[in-house]
Amino acid sequence: MDILTVATTPFTDQRPGTSGLRKKVRRFQTPHYLENFVQALFDCLPQREGATLVLGGDGRHYNREAIGVILRMAAANGIGRILLGAGGLLSTPAVSNLIRRHRTRGGIILSASHNPGGPDGDFGIKFNIDNGGPAPEAFTEAVYARTREITEYRILESGEVPLDHPGEHTLGGMTVTIIDPVADYAALMETLLDFPRLRSLFDTGAFRMVYDAMHAVTGPYAIEILEHRLGAPADTVIHGTPLPDFGGGHPDPNLVHARELVQRLFQPAPRCPDFGAASDGDGDRNMILGCNFFVTPSDSLAVLAANLHRLPGYRTGLKGVARSLPTSRAVDRVAAALGVECYETPTGWKFFGNLLDAGRINLCGEESFGTGSDHLREKDGLWAVLCWLNLVAERQQSVAEIVREHWRNFGRDFYTRHDYEALDPDVARQLVDRLRDRLGTLPGRRFGDFTVASADEFAYTDPVDGSVSEHQGLRLLFHQEARLVVRLSGTGTEGATLRLYLEQYEPDIARHDADANDYLAPLIHAAGEILQVEALTGRSAPDVIT
Ligand code: G1P
Ligand code: ZN
Repeated sequence: MDILTVATTPFTDQRPGTSGLRKKVRRFQTPHYLENFVQALFDCLPQREGATLVLGGDGRHYNREAIGVILRMAAANGIGRILLGAGGLLSTPAVSNLIRRHRTRGGIILSASHNPGGPDGDFGIKFNIDNGGPAPEAFTEAVYARTREITEYRILESGEVPLDHPGEHTLGGMTVTIIDPVADYAALMETLLDFPRLRSLFDTGAFRMVYDAMHAVTGPYAIEILEHRLGAPADTVIHGTPLPDFGGGHPDPNLVHARELVQRLFQPAPRCPDFGAASDGDGDRNMILGCNFFVTPSDSLAVLAANLHRLPGYRTGLKGVARSLPTSRAVDRVAAALGVECYETPTGWKFFGNLLDAGRINLCGEESFGTGSDHLREKDGLWAVLCWLNLVAERQQSVAEIVREHWRNFGRDFYTRHDYEALDPDVARQLVDRLRDRLGTLPGRRFGDFTVASADEFAYTDPVDGSVSEHQGLRLLFHQEARLVVRLSGTGTEGATLRLYLEQYEPDIARHDADANDYLAPLIHAAGEILQVEALTGRSAPDVIT
């Protein structure tokens, strides 16, 4: 098998965003596009010769083709061994686990996470380093710089391995070990959670649960863990077969996209299951539902923080916690009560890595349906679901009872996120620039019921390595215990997405049962006045509310 050196020219749009390089499938299919990026990545990988890497993806359209290309390029670039999930499948948390468990140099994840798939959908590629977490900005920027100057890439002329057959295969001078994608991950979960107690939950058949795998990667993981190891009934996992187009759905576990699950959980009590959950395309996100009850991801993080010591893998309790800037401050209240540190980081999981590695935190999360702990360096959807099940089993309370009790103890942080999608990027940028320019003039000004207490642009200094990340979102605090955060998405592939994150604290128990968007209506109105979204974009309402 000859190694070819192929001449190429740079593409200018290969800068990784919040989570790797994400583009339309068709863009990735442009001749040399994938190859250029992969070569740039290998060029930036220290001590590449003989290294072991993990490789797998969420099974979306182009997954198998991309794996074929990456394997041939890895062999041509001196990689020693690839650990590959059978069928080319691995969830993002499973990759993180394999990197850590097998001490590999890193891993390549093929996924566009919760973005739609299929030939007209999105594809993505992301590199994780040897701690199992997303590569830090210094590395992704180096890869980007390399893509701007690349002139050639190396690839085996031919050769492939049977992706569906576990075992050892050889490709050029490289070994490809094809492994069961689920086994190591399921074993890890058994060490962190109380499996006997979880099994007892399903013993009598009285407890009913639905898990929506959204035809994405977590189907096989959820079936193995929930149905086979914990004894949940065989129809517990719905949409459990991974499909290249996610069955035409949008694999984002929220109230809008997990429609069937939401319908099942929101119906009169006798018919409504006790517990509902969903994960996204690559299995790192989670949504938690109770009977007629939605747990916001920010509340989920706060509840897990307050109850972490109840889970077998975390008996020593919460060491410290981190949340991304736009995530509600509910968890801050728990950290304050427990006397541990709460870090506020920019959006994106990569900012949690150093805090986890340094042992400063053992729990972290984002409002975007992401929760995780020091067991990995990625957020972990199924883990979060199992944590909640464990709490329900141990506390002998429903999801709603657990959350309401939490609000009684800490107060409720009403929260909503409004997304305006596919905006003209210039218009979106102007909107943000205009607000940035006015930040200094806002303190003391009143908008509707709200007076601005402070306004700034968030910059983060990593407390572990001192690195600074600027321009991470605009943040307005109001005297009325309310907050507005504004930023542009770094993961979209069509136009720009404007995200408004709105929250207000309510200590009065009598008001805790209000609907979040009703409760927050005055703040939403004030935000409209401050930002002039409608006047500038022509949009009278957001596209997605979560
Ligand atoms: C979005 C979420 C962010 C998450 C990322 C990857 O990024 O908002 O919290 O880490 O997806 O799952 P954004 O599109 O906002 O840049
Ligand atoms: Zn994801």
